[in-house]
Amino acid sequence: MASVTIPQQNRTITDSGEIAAFLQPHGIWYRRTDVAGRLGPRAGDAEILAAYDREITELKERGGYVTADVINVTADTPNLDVMLNKFNKEHRHDEDEVRFIVHGRGVFHINPDSGDPVFAIEVEAGDMINVPAGTRHWFDLCADRTIRAIRLFLEQAGWTPHYTESGVDESYVPLCLGPTDIPPGEGFKPSVPI
Ligand SMILES: [Fe+2]
Repeated sequence: MASVTIPQQNRTITDSGEIAAFLQPHGIWYRRTDVAGRLGPRAGDAEILAAYDREITELKERGGYVTADVINVTADTPNLDVMLNKFNKEHRHDEDEVRFIVHGRGVFHINPDSGDPVFAIEVEAGDMINVPAGTRHWFDLCADRTIRAIRLFLEQAGWTPHYTESGVDESYVPLCLGPTDIPPGEGFKPSVPI
């Protein structure tokens, strides 16, 4: 189950319907689907894409996306920090960032152009979400540094990050409410502006 946190308001939303309603004015759609038991832990990319073909087709029809691939990251992934450093600075894309999480978890921070406060969306297996083109955002993994997600694209070149260099991301650290193998206090700090 995803959660939304608005640090400046000291507010957290965990109900799926309330999350969808909160995100909708920001052009973000959110939906959950049941993924429990549908794939083994060692499933390869092709197997993942085949297993979720129905959802992928639905997402393509919804947003006009034409291609899908799989991103599969664990704490053992070589050069993981280099990879994460590309995503954890505030940026925009020329096209939607669409993710269907099938394993693990992560946190999107959104900095709305509307002037509304920054909010964090924690996503986990079963969560489908889009970050609309042009939205200021950044992404972090949770303490277990594991995520497997299906990505959908109009064209992959459109997903190149355009960094804002605002430094806003430096004021937040990712809060992950969900379970983790790492004891409290050894992972990330609470997500509060500093
Ligand atoms: Fe992004």
